[in-house]
Amino acid sequence: MTQEATAKKVALVTGGVGGIGSAICRELALKGHQVVAGYHPMEEQTAQARLKEWQQEGLAIDISSGDVASFASCADSAKTITAKYGKVDLLVNCAGITRDKTLKKMTEDDWHSVLNVDLNSLFNVTKQFIDGMTDRGFGRIVNISSVNGKKGQFGQTNYSAAKAGVHGFTMALAQEVARKGVTVNSVSPGYTETAMTKAIPADVTKQIVDQIPMGRMAQPDEIAYVVSFLCDERAGYVTGANISVNGGMFISF
Ligand code: CAA
Repeated sequence: MTQEATAKKVALVTGGVGGIGSAICRELALKGHQVVAGYHPMEEQTAQARLKEWQQEGLAIDISSGDVASFASCADSAKTITAKYGKVDLLVNCAGITRDKTLKKMTEDDWHSVLNVDLNSLFNVTKQFIDGMTDRGFGRIVNISSVNGKKGQFGQTNYSAAKAGVHGFTMALAQEVARKGVTVNSVSPGYTETAMTKAIPADVTKQIVDQIPMGRMAQPDEIAYVVSFLCDERAGYVTGANISVNGGMFISF
């Protein structure tokens, strides 16, 4: 392994102060990387609280505010991050929202908000860093999809469509940058214990958990571990892949 390949990497995790995102930030920081946790301006309080925790633990995690649904905002954030840390080597596109409703009740705003944050963000954020990665000949991009992007979920036409799209983006970009040392993969978490799943009505949660062969939801750390594997230099021959971390809820190959 060259010295360049083993040098400290800079990681950006969008949605980095959320349930899964913050676990990913910790995991990557524990591996010795400099991490930047992206967050939406509306999450300022949570972001400051997380930052305090991370600082107390001595972890190299910084925070950066921006709106992944806006290309201009992503360009601004990228400028700030690059000015401070010089580059981004590891990009984890983790920002995501839900607006669960049957299609009958879904508004145009419910549709576009989810598509903008969960899918269009991949274009908005990845565009800022892809040239730097290919120019330097190294990069790891991990896009967080969902079991519901693979199997579809009642009440989630918007989310299921966006998360299926995440993998389409992944497969196409993986081919474009394969010869430049950059890998692009997606991870499809199943139901994970976070604020997002806490918002599901209790009776519906029970029905869902009953369908999971492992009989429980995932812990955020179980998702983060797989993301950090894909970010490792030694995972350099894995690209265009999707890894399910769903407790057996949807088994496919
Ligand atoms: N399959 C088939 N029919 C179903 C159903 C299902 N899974 N769930 C409900 N129904 C039926 C009901 O029995 C009811 O039938 P009747 O009208 O005949 O009584 C009807 O559909 C209910 O329809 P409504 O439009 O009234 O639905 P609702 O307002 O009660 O709730 C919902 C709809 C908000 C989508 C609710 O079902 C829900 O919250 N579901 C969970 C969605 C979910 O799994 N979200 C995941 C969030 S976490 C996440 O996304 C992270 C990740 O990546 C995994």
